[in-house]
Amino acid sequence: MERNIIKIGLIGLGTVGSGVFKCLQGTDIKVVKAAVRDVSKPRNIENLDQSILTQDPYEIVNDPEIQIVAELIGGINPAFDLIKTAIKNGKHIVTANKELLAKHGEELFNLAEEHNRVILYEAAIAGGIPIIMPVKTILAGNKINKIEAILNGTTNYILTKMDMQGASYDDVLKEAQTLGYAEADPTGDVEGFDAAYKITTLATIAFGKRVKIENVYREGITKIKAKDMKAANELGYKIKLIASAYMNEEGKADVRVHPMLVSKKSTLAHIDYVTNAVSLSGHPVGDITLSGPGAGEFPTASSVIGDILAIASEINTTDYLLPMMRCHHGENAQMIDIADTCNKYYISINAKNNKGVIGKIGTICAENNISLASIMQKCVSEDNTADITVITELCLEKNLQNAIKLIEQDGNKVESLIRVQERGSNGFTR
Ligand code: NAP
Ligand code: HSE
Repeated sequence: MERNIIKIGLIGLGTVGSGVFKCLQGTDIKVVKAAVRDVSKPRNIENLDQSILTQDPYEIVNDPEIQIVAELIGGINPAFDLIKTAIKNGKHIVTANKELLAKHGEELFNLAEEHNRVILYEAAIAGGIPIIMPVKTILAGNKINKIEAILNGTTNYILTKMDMQGASYDDVLKEAQTLGYAEADPTGDVEGFDAAYKITTLATIAFGKRVKIENVYREGITKIKAKDMKAANELGYKIKLIASAYMNEEGKADVRVHPMLVSKKSTLAHIDYVTNAVSLSGHPVGDITLSGPGAGEFPTASSVIGDILAIASEINTTDYLLPMMRCHHGENAQMIDIADTCNKYYISINAKNNKGVIGKIGTICAENNISLASIMQKCVSEDNTADITVITELCLEKNLQNAIKLIEQDGNKVESLIRVQERGSNGFTR
């Protein structure tokens, strides 16, 4: 039988692009062109035909031979224009670019629909974990109302190594960069932007309503201290960067990314190093957790290749490919402001070691309708200050923020404020 060779173009031959290129060698998917920033750069790819390399990615999106374009450069420019041009030129798109999808997904998906083309992006969320395809196909009949996830490999790697090996933040970040996990600018990872982009897209498809990135609350891991990790461990928790999305019964969404103390008994507490996990709750399925490598050359390539093969398998057989994988969410999700959410908190306070200081903190909390689950004073330092650790019961964020202001006005320093996972009967937070 004659082989049906599909010609594709890769834009980007870095960590992800190289993995994709290597895995496609010898298959019926032929990479006919690959765009890079610098064609003379040495690449860790055996038998790379240098003649397919170009420094002009428009050669790929304008090439009539190419049917599928895989955008693997990241960022907004020039990726946004390249994908738009490729779609207008009749190409299907595979991308790993979570930032672009979170910021301009709506425009891109509408354009793709207008031109009857598909954009697949399994690699953009949780690296090697299949999550987009399952949510869009086999879980499509579910009403999903909760997602709790570890969606960034770099930060999970850093937190795990700091916690288990007492490693320094700077050293582990460098290691994550060398391993190809981190973004070109790792601020995107450590400040929680990357996880925010991912949960924005994941919540949009899970809830069937468009979540806007500007409405997603975000905090990164840069303020987490070794002493917070130690205290968390003593209290029976691990600190993880958690991306979450909840849809309440009135149809309002609470989507956020922030560090969280998660109970050592919970699934997410055991997701370590570069592993990611997505726990979701839906009806009728119940609770599901998918976990696997969240970043790196081959795990991410696995998702890109799966998308390329899905398109390739239908490209010459139908005029309307992969109907369940298309995105058309006209309606925007109504969002709940973080100030109106209810959470449990870990607070680390450096207080003046005055008589009654603990009582005063307790009073401020009580006056703001905050009950305390525990309050502990540790050693008194030479400067006559003491470290006090507080765990609250569930309370309103705006009440908590007011209490923090009053505790500080009283001459104390609130050094850390981290939300705590409160496990409900179904195993999810709250
Ligand atoms: P990377 O290692 O920095 O590679 C980027 C590639 O794009 C390089 O080959 C670079 O060329 C090329 N490039 C950059 N700007 C270009 C331009 N204007 N024209 C032509 N080529 C250009 O990045 P990566 O880690 O592979 O990430 C790529 C995408 O995948 C990003 O969207 C990222 O967020 C996403 N992603 C990454 C991972 C991961 O584990 N790394 C996982 C999931 C998703 P040179 O090689 O010549 O510099
Ligand atoms: N920088 C990202 C991470 C790559 O560390 O998770 C995978 O999307």
